[in-house]
Amino acid sequence: MTTHTAAQAPAIEVTDLRKSFEDNHVLQGIELTVPAGTVYALLGPNGAGKTTAVRILTTLISGDAGTATVLGHDVSTEPDAIRLRIGVTGQFSAIDELLTGRENLQLMADLNHLPRRQGRARAQELLERFDLVDAADRGAATYSGGMKRRLDLAMTLVSSPRLIFLDEPSTGLDPRSRRELWQIIRELINEGVTIFLTTQYLEEADELAHKVGVLDRGTLVAEGTPAELKRRVPGGRVDVTYVDPVALSTAAGAIAGATADLESLTLSVPHDGTLGALQELVGRLDSEAVASLEVHTPDLDDVFLALTGHRPQPAEERPENTTEAPMTEEVAR
Ligand SMILES: Nc1ncnc2c1ncn2[C@@H]1O[C@H](COP(=O)(O)OP(=O)(O)OP(=O)(O)O)[C@@H](O)[C@H]1O
Ligand SMILES: [Mg+2]
Repeated sequence: MTTHTAAQAPAIEVTDLRKSFEDNHVLQGIELTVPAGTVYALLGPNGAGKTTAVRILTTLISGDAGTATVLGHDVSTEPDAIRLRIGVTGQFSAIDELLTGRENLQLMADLNHLPRRQGRARAQELLERFDLVDAADRGAATYSGGMKRRLDLAMTLVSSPRLIFLDEPSTGLDPRSRRELWQIIRELINEGVTIFLTTQYLEEADELAHKVGVLDRGTLVAEGTPAELKRRVPGGRVDVTYVDPVALSTAAGAIAGATADLESLTLSVPHDGTLGALQELVGRLDSEAVASLEVHTPDLDDVFLALTGHRPQPAEERPENTTEAPMTEEVAR
């Protein structure tokens, strides 16, 4: 038996966690450890069991087998101790739309038994931090999706928890709102808050997490740092679009492994995601002949295909035309 000091004890420790809903075996033996002060991202497609895992760890439902401890407390025997110490932002908003932003925050302060003055001060502080001062006294029903997400997270922080669960924090947000939310989450990370988040976006896990677990059909099919996972995933490529067909075919002959598409005048070059390889490629391009260049990083589909040999969901549940386009980073235009 090992002894831990408070600082060394993992914030979350899960062993052989199982959960079924009748014959739907959602979690089939999950093992994971989240050291205090780190960010763990559980990555998986719709229905993978992400919310189920969060609900068990936040003591909203119980697992069927296995153990889970959160901040040193067992989820099945000490749920109250856990609830007092964690913050949870669910996948679906906890905002009361009939109240203003400020009232929602004050309600959370009351639920957390903060003295009135202190609660009011905390609400104001969070409104400022989340850029909601102008909208503070407006009904939350009038907030945009991004504002609601920020208010939701602010409500989670009223009690200053040291461990927070974020279930798909940025799903449904536009790229700008997503980046703003990531910035807020990064500030929390810098303050040493431990974060367990779920996401469908490899990019989000990559931006925020120290460690990523890939959840597929009830088990963690891979775990590692974002860089480790991406190294295991082919599918990165650079698309170079040329000004005319002659320039395209000249380049196609000169760059090994490239595939040319005459219709779009685009040359696709496999890319391992490293800056060195990109610099080398760019160095070989003729700037007069190139119209634009795009770096495609592997997306969730690429990760699943590489790690599991199949797409995130059975084909019938995920028609081709609803598949998300791969994430791209525009380097130049
Ligand atoms: N209370 C419940 N009763 C019956 N089935 C449930 C219940 N909760 C979840 N499930 C089932 O468990 C599976 C996993 O659901 P879960 O909500 O954990 O997935 P998820 O990874 O969070 O998906 P999403 O990305 O869509 O939020 C699904 O098949 C779902 O239908
Ligand atoms: Mg979910």
